[in-house]
Amino acid sequence: MAKVIKYEFVEELLRKMTLSEKIGQMYQTNYEGSAQTGPAIDTSKTMDLIKEGKLGSILSLYDNDTIKRLQLAAVNTKNKIPLLFCNDIIHGCRTMLPINLAMSTSWNPKLVEESSKMVAYEASHSGVQVTFSPMVNLSRDPRWGRVMESNGEDVYLSKELTKSYIKGYQQGNLKGENSIGACIKHFAAYGAAIGGRDYDGVDMSEGELFNNYLDPYKEAIKCDVAMMMSSFNSYNGIPAVANKYLLDDVLRKKLGFNKVVITDYASVNELRKHKVAKDEKESAYLAIKAKNDIEMASTNYLDSLEELVKSGEVSESEIDEACRRVLNLKYELGLFENPLKNIYSDFPKYWLKDESRAIAKKMADESIVLLENDGVLPLKKEKVSFIGPFVKEKKVVGAWGGKCDYNDTVTIYEALNNKNKKYDYALGSNIFDTNEELISEAVNVAKKSSVVILTVGEEQWMSGESHSRARLDLPSSQERLIDEITNLGKKVILIIFAGRPLVLTKYKKMYLEGKISAILYAWYLGTESGNTIVDTLYGVNNPSAKLTMSFPYDVGQIPVYYNHLPSGRPIEDKNNTDYCLRYIDMPLEPLYPFGYGMSYSEVKYGKIELDKDKLFDNSKITVSISITNTSSVKTKEVVEMYIEAMYGVVSRPVRELKGFNKVLLKPGETKKVSFTINKDTLSYYKGSKKVNCYGKYRVYLVSDSSKENFVEIDYSKNTK
Ligand code: BGC
Repeated sequence: MAKVIKYEFVEELLRKMTLSEKIGQMYQTNYEGSAQTGPAIDTSKTMDLIKEGKLGSILSLYDNDTIKRLQLAAVNTKNKIPLLFCNDIIHGCRTMLPINLAMSTSWNPKLVEESSKMVAYEASHSGVQVTFSPMVNLSRDPRWGRVMESNGEDVYLSKELTKSYIKGYQQGNLKGENSIGACIKHFAAYGAAIGGRDYDGVDMSEGELFNNYLDPYKEAIKCDVAMMMSSFNSYNGIPAVANKYLLDDVLRKKLGFNKVVITDYASVNELRKHKVAKDEKESAYLAIKAKNDIEMASTNYLDSLEELVKSGEVSESEIDEACRRVLNLKYELGLFENPLKNIYSDFPKYWLKDESRAIAKKMADESIVLLENDGVLPLKKEKVSFIGPFVKEKKVVGAWGGKCDYNDTVTIYEALNNKNKKYDYALGSNIFDTNEELISEAVNVAKKSSVVILTVGEEQWMSGESHSRARLDLPSSQERLIDEITNLGKKVILIIFAGRPLVLTKYKKMYLEGKISAILYAWYLGTESGNTIVDTLYGVNNPSAKLTMSFPYDVGQIPVYYNHLPSGRPIEDKNNTDYCLRYIDMPLEPLYPFGYGMSYSEVKYGKIELDKDKLFDNSKITVSISITNTSSVKTKEVVEMYIEAMYGVVSRPVRELKGFNKVLLKPGETKKVSFTINKDTLSYYKGSKKVNCYGKYRVYLVSDSSKENFVEIDYSKNTK
């Protein structure tokens, strides 16, 4: 059950407030049509509401002078309650980090924390008091445009990174000069939308919800996250924003969340479209009963709550409860003491500092994934040419660009020049179109070089909210360019820009045929994109990222993810697969598995050691492995620990990530990596009930989720 927090200051304020003033605190809107992520809303009343002391918060306002003006108007009212300014600062404020999915491939929670701290530093001087981040919706479907904002397909990794984001933003001190509040989103299961279609419904068992979806939120609550956002999707027939089971029974009662829940943009209006409410009044009723404290963008609360209180359908104490949580947050942020907190007119002074760019570069270095390499990389002294639409492209930031200016992006072209590299260049194709002239110019340039670096990909707005795709291939003009260039018999390095896993089957085949020599997945790496790419090509950066979403062999395989449940009919004999779990026209496995990624080094995994092989409820096991960098360059290796339950009271996934450790290895160096296993490592939910699954387990210590290097342990109850 959520504990009620009462600050005397807030309680006194509450006693003085009228009902309509309290309801005003439960409304968030924008001003003069500032950024909007859904249907346009009427903002003509914003200033009047502020002056009447009947508005609680503002979203997506970018101009600090306007923010200041609105804040001064708010505190110049009877109750002097400051506004709260929220914004979507998701992977960078002005200095842009890689997209979040790319950052997750770093498997580096410390670096994610350092990066979020940098973001908080810039945002806390740019009029942002709470950021609508991190987005932790588990993402198993690359058709969904919002996978770019996520931590990928695994709940354990996402949980670890969630801690990093929140620690980085809030720094354990909401009042801090350089910190901002975090709003974790979206509660819950939004990423499981049917068909990867944004805003579509979700039907999911309780066991699935508890085992794979809730841990990041639980972790966020432990880290004292300031706010949580409910989601757009319906969950088992009831839209999340009106879903009492999700928001009240699970979030408030079971997980004990006692801070602000904000709705998503106009999602209370959408209850009518979902066909669960007949009018505004009923929409407001359902949302307040589910315990949403702030309504974002639409005005059902503003227009109907007072009437609902008067008719007795909603009690004033329910309004108090929600308003208290909003005021508590303002109090915790220190806004009553300093309403101008985080609002600076000299904000550009805090942007793009050398230290901030250095962090963005480190993050980008650890987010670029090497998928294939026949030894062509790192480049030696070959004559090289750079071709394709992304060599000079500045828009490689990805959706949710915060306050970015694309002019800040270092392109590959600029990085090559800054680093005095010799190269030839041709465009070859724009992102969506090409012509004979561009193609023949590119072919002529490529012919004169021995290695061609071919940059291809999705345009940056092809992913993000409302940008789901049914096909996951490259625009056809770029496919044509790839065909023309790879027919020349040169060594070709493909660099792919994308906000999601694309289907790369054709290019993997070309790699196997020797027509492509290496594939680098560059996502959108942000401000330092070009510097990271050039450093990676020339071996200054040794890539260390590993995939956090499985890459499908074909769209028809989706959803394809590593931790699926076992089947009663797995393939056991490759020569006889009739009546087995399979496709008859393509493999069952993904093209690239979860956890996979190459580097320029070779790391040898030794034998797994166990200090004991029997686990009891009150004991623990240490499992270790020695890994050796057998190459002559330093490297970072992620050791991944998975478990596989061999039998137990419930059927569990074929593998579950339960630990990882990113280790720096000098040339020739060996390091021992250890993990602890206890009953919590092995526990699992049966429905919403956590159970100890006694039985036999395999423990894998491996470099990706498809590798076979394991030991067995037994887990049983304590014996006396
Ligand atoms: C998105 C949220 C976002 C909000 C405010 C919505 O459309 O789903 O993630 O925080 O807009 O911009």
